[in-house]
Amino acid sequence: MTDVTERPLPLGIPTDDPEHPVFRNVDDKAQRIFLWQYERSREQLVTLYNRASVSQWSSTRDLDWSTEVDPERYVDTGDSAMRLYREAGKVPGSPIASWGDKEYLQLALELQKASLSQFMHGEQGAMMTAAKIVETVPWIDARYYAATQTMDEARHTEVFARYLQEKLGEPYPMSPFLEEQIMVLLEDGRWDIAYLGMQVIIESLALAAFGDMHRRTEEPLLKKLLRYVMADEARHVAFGILSLSELYSELTDAELKDRQEFLLENTLRNRTRATTPEVWERLGVDPTVLLPYLMEAATKIEGGFNRAIMKGFFSKLVPNVKKLGLLEANNGYLRKAWGEAGLLEYEFAPDTSEDYATYDEVAKDREAAASS
Ligand SMILES: [Fe+2]
Ligand SMILES: [Fe+2]
Repeated sequence: MTDVTERPLPLGIPTDDPEHPVFRNVDDKAQRIFLWQYERSREQLVTLYNRASVSQWSSTRDLDWSTEVDPERYVDTGDSAMRLYREAGKVPGSPIASWGDKEYLQLALELQKASLSQFMHGEQGAMMTAAKIVETVPWIDARYYAATQTMDEARHTEVFARYLQEKLGEPYPMSPFLEEQIMVLLEDGRWDIAYLGMQVIIESLALAAFGDMHRRTEEPLLKKLLRYVMADEARHVAFGILSLSELYSELTDAELKDRQEFLLENTLRNRTRATTPEVWERLGVDPTVLLPYLMEAATKIEGGFNRAIMKGFFSKLVPNVKKLGLLEANNGYLRKAWGEAGLLEYEFAPDTSEDYATYDEVAKDREAAASS
């Protein structure tokens, strides 16, 4: 790999501050192709593309940015993460032992801002991944669909950035964890890994996290924005499953093993990302000092860290991976490993790879507007 620090700055970026970098180079060895096969042969992808093109929404037409947002009024200070932090404050010697309601409210606000910031950065990663699929996937129907997804992800990035900027304030930088997870697939040369990493893993995680925030907020602008974003994401997951089902039915055992390994390496670590150090640093608490108190509190609180989101994530991920044949391939290699990690309880969770039509919030709102 070339040392990225030796490269000249991209044109258009006159200076870069190493303390607060505004960009990062991506070393991409993917094979880009020009494709001369225009026959529409994949009916389900054609249907999905048609649906996507009529369900596009607009951030300026469909969302009311004049909505006054009072974050303190709407933030949820009673969810399981907040219960855990309050419990950590009660452990003798805890660095947050002196905290009262005011500090916990500030924490809840910062946590919400941190989540929305990671959504924003993740959405840009999704836009880049979808654009990469446009150039690399060897099926015209999938190229067309990925082009609509690229537009969807641009809109998602834009609305999260605008919400932060206008309603909440200074966003957080991209977390190293999310950056690593997205770089792994942007820098991988195989086109299907872009799908497996983004449409199957990260978008399942995103749907769970967006759903969790959607349940917990009553702020009307954020609620509608999340509802529209989730409707698009449900289609993206379906796109991944449709495309990969076809490809994976033709791969050899060794090739499938590589994909199983990729899943193993890139899903279990989601469970270990327990704290949000950036938030604690902003609040003047050393996260390494706090960690043992959090661990102790986690033993007392049912569910522990991010339980609701992890449950939502694995209950989408595991059935979808099963559908791709990756649980059973190579004598159940992944079934065994995930079984040991306790993930097979999600094997029969409701299948979400085909229910994008029932999630079509844009169509629902248009019908309601037309009939009123
Ligand atoms: Fe998105
Ligand atoms: Fe997406």
